Amino acid sequence: MKLNLPKYVLAATLIAIGCSTAKQDMVSVKEKQLPIDRKVDSVLNLMTLEEKIGQMNQYNGFWNVTGPAPKDGDAAVKYEHIKKGWVGSMLNVRGVKDVRALQKIAVEESRLGIPVLFGYDVIHGYKTISPIPLAEAASWDMEAIENSAAIAAAESAASGLNWTFAPMVDVTRDARWGRVMEGSGEDTYLGSAIAVARVKGFQGDLGEFNVAACVKHFAGYGFAEAGKDYNTVDVNRSTLHNIIPPPFKAAADAGALTFMNSFNDVDGIPATGNTYLQREVLKKDWNFQGFVVSDWGSMGEMVNHGYAKDLKQAAEFAANAGSDMDMESHGYVMYLAQLVKEGKVSEDKINDAARRILRVKFQLGLFDNPYKYCDEVREKATVGKKEFHDGVLDMAKKSIVLLKNENNLLPLKKQGQKIAVIGALANDKTSPLGSWRIGADDGTAISVMEGLSQYKGNELVYAKGADVALGTPAFTVETKINMTDKSGFEEAVNAAKNADVVVMVLGEHGLQTGEGRSRVNLGLPGVQQELLETVYKANPNIVLVLTNGRPLEIVWADGNIPAIVEAWHLGTESGNAIAQVLYGDYNPSGKLPMSFPRTVGQMPLYYNHKSTGRPYYNGGNSVFWSHYTDESNEALYPFGYGLSYSSFEYNNLKLSNNTLNQNGKITVSVDVKNTSNVNGKEVVQLYLRDLFGSVTRPVRELKGFELVSINAGETKTVSFEIDEKTIEFYTANNKWEAEPGDFKVFVGGDSKASLEAGFTYSK
Ligand code: NOJ
Repeated sequence: MKLNLPKYVLAATLIAIGCSTAKQDMVSVKEKQLPIDRKVDSVLNLMTLEEKIGQMNQYNGFWNVTGPAPKDGDAAVKYEHIKKGWVGSMLNVRGVKDVRALQKIAVEESRLGIPVLFGYDVIHGYKTISPIPLAEAASWDMEAIENSAAIAAAESAASGLNWTFAPMVDVTRDARWGRVMEGSGEDTYLGSAIAVARVKGFQGDLGEFNVAACVKHFAGYGFAEAGKDYNTVDVNRSTLHNIIPPPFKAAADAGALTFMNSFNDVDGIPATGNTYLQREVLKKDWNFQGFVVSDWGSMGEMVNHGYAKDLKQAAEFAANAGSDMDMESHGYVMYLAQLVKEGKVSEDKINDAARRILRVKFQLGLFDNPYKYCDEVREKATVGKKEFHDGVLDMAKKSIVLLKNENNLLPLKKQGQKIAVIGALANDKTSPLGSWRIGADDGTAISVMEGLSQYKGNELVYAKGADVALGTPAFTVETKINMTDKSGFEEAVNAAKNADVVVMVLGEHGLQTGEGRSRVNLGLPGVQQELLETVYKANPNIVLVLTNGRPLEIVWADGNIPAIVEAWHLGTESGNAIAQVLYGDYNPSGKLPMSFPRTVGQMPLYYNHKSTGRPYYNGGNSVFWSHYTDESNEALYPFGYGLSYSSFEYNNLKLSNNTLNQNGKITVSVDVKNTSNVNGKEVVQLYLRDLFGSVTRPVRELKGFELVSINAGETKTVSFEIDEKTIEFYTANNKWEAEPGDFKVFVGGDSKASLEAGFTYSK
């Protein structure tokens, strides 16, 4: 007899926990009152070993699920496995119709009818696309970031999804790595705050408009050597403890339901087979109750790493190390039962993994209603909603960073100007969607030209000048086609000659960054730099709008171009956001979450580096200090940097006390004055320097920030609190603790903040 599976499971649950069958009518009411772990255990008790292992298996979408069942090949195998209850989760199946079709097989045709999780990379929006995460990080606005994640969750949940593979919280210091676009940049403190905001936004109260978050990539993936994706990771003990984990820990503490491990090895052990990271740190020290999914094929890749001799051994290592779900290596479904029988993986470990996965399904409410996310009416009413567009537009404006504005060239005058708009990216409706926009359709972003056209008082003339890259091939490497063609230069020069102002939109195409898109050159791709210099000769009155997914090398532009706006890949509403900023209807307040280099040779470049033994120039002709002989050590634009149409002055840095004791606190206050005649917002930043420690300490570290609105002429006092927690780090004692010593305090508008004070901490 085929039963409605959820009821079957619930009834079985009640029997297993000792409720009388007479009470089954009250199933849903009672059910909610029981602790989840008892429900999970009672389901587990009903499962065969193969069914438990099935929960640990995740498959990619495989056939037109609403069509006839596949008869052979991989698709037929996957289909059969769902019917057997051997699939815990699917990825890349989306849309209510398809999700419902697959869920129906799992729920109605498998023995126990355990619902399946549907995961998807909703990294910066689903159909209505938000700015890339690195851009959002530039807002330093946690409320806006949470809201952006909530929009992504609501839209994807309406399309049947219940799990997003985000947030990516990898700290990244090397702009050559294409995936810097997907994270929050180079800082641990800012990254932790953003990790929390994103988890809250995605998961909310786990209602029907929320999805489970997946914090990734645990761990160290952002430290791929030389910025080459998937490369070896070689980090020291301090980086491994002080820099990499805090955003993951913050996300776990914020209640993230799942984690994803990573492709790389850490200290010689691939993350997927890494017991220390997954069992010791995450599950034991942090008491994480959710589950860990592998990255795509990362279990099988342990063979390539030269760590496991074959897929079977890789499955053994992964299961023993605490990698709970296998994304598309097929190692668990093929070998795990056998490995248990051979005594190589204990059934306890299988129970633990299956329990964790079931727990998430209960937490999402899928046992109550496996079709919770499958409502066609809601899908239609929700996807692409006007309020989502408003939300991503708001986020996009907040993400823009004004890098330079000489002679107040910006904001643009609204009347009587002839504006030449130059660059292929100015007219591109796909590139602004960025790299992880797999749910969105090509051509759905507002281009810069469209945004500027909303302002009718000026005349716009467009000239492409040069291509940046060919079209939008989803997963090809950076294309070379049209990268050398200068035939459009003449038209661009003519347009510039006849214009009052030139707006040049240059940078990277949305698909020149992201996974697998590492670069050794950080300049403007193709002939764009040459185009910029050529147009400059015709008319230097240029506003350079950069659209890119990573810090670029733009020293020439900084030295010559009067106004530079960092506009990243801003998503669906990109052109509107850029136009509103250029015309001054929005006063930019973004600050860089990653240092911009002077040259790629400075990579990795980050503000919170160590001092070294020879940090300073010693006078005379000395070359014996830590520096380059052909370039400055400094970033072109440092972490935390960004201008506004307002200007701010910092004064009166005060500490309530010059000594800090255990359980004590110090209040740091500073006056910030808006010295302009424009209302604006400023990100006030607090940095500390721990002057000496049991392990060497960074030259400064961000320890607080506040985004404040300050009206023209107004002064606001901004305060921060420092306590023992603020100064803790992973010491030579192998634990997080505060060490007695002297500290410097810096407050200002970027990581070069020069207002300085100090205090001493003693126990
Ligand atoms: C590989 C990526 O590294 C990961 O971030 C992503 O979630 C999975 N593929 C699934 O698409």
